Amino acid sequence: GQVNVLDHPLIQHKLTHIRDYRTGTKAFRELVDEVATLMAFEITRHLPLEEIEIETPVCKAKAYQLAGKKLGIIPILRAGLGMVDGMLNLIPAAKVGHVGLYRDPETLKPVEYYCKLPSDIQERELIVVDPMLATGGSASAALTLLKEKGAVNMKLMCLIAAPEGVEQVKKDHPDIDIYLGALDEKLNEHGYIVPGLGDAGDRLFG
Ligand code: PRP
Repeated sequence: GQVNVLDHPLIQHKLTHIRDYRTGTKAFRELVDEVATLMAFEITRHLPLEEIEIETPVCKAKAYQLAGKKLGIIPILRAGLGMVDGMLNLIPAAKVGHVGLYRDPETLKPVEYYCKLPSDIQERELIVVDPMLATGGSASAALTLLKEKGAVNMKLMCLIAAPEGVEQVKKDHPDIDIYLGALDEKLNEHGYIVPGLGDAGDRLFG
């Protein structure tokens, strides 16, 4: 899969405030929401259109509408929830599926605790969202789980990633395209992205 860094100036500017440790919960939530909207705008650029005929107040005209491709948004709980509303602003007809994974603090391995998906995921283009791609364990496990449940068309969208996480997902899921707000330097010994933004789940929800 391809790795795409969505480095639109507005995304970069907002990410700077998201990273700043002085940004409190309210502003952090609002900024994550806004960046998710901007990233959704970029990630939907490829959606197919179909030509239709409409009538304007002036005349009949050919025009375009989305070709009916169904989308699904799959947040990885908890932190992924912070990106859902921002995406639904642009794609309100999308269905939302929830995958709960937490990272075991000792082993850093993902543990699944929840999974509830729309019934027709195999017919949808799914966008799996999580603010952080650190070791890649959570995202990779979520993608594996979704494939087991029938998903065939997925993208992964994260605010910030470490190179280690990108490599893990590329290795486990070579078919998946990855969309990032930023690709950071590395992971530290605690599995945190450097420079990163700290713990996204804690900064969103406490
Ligand atoms: C964080 C983050 C990702 C995961 C990334 O979640 O939101 O889901 O860690 O790490 P990984 O790439 O090494 O798997 P966390 O386990 O802290 O849970 P939370 O979202 O509920 O806070």
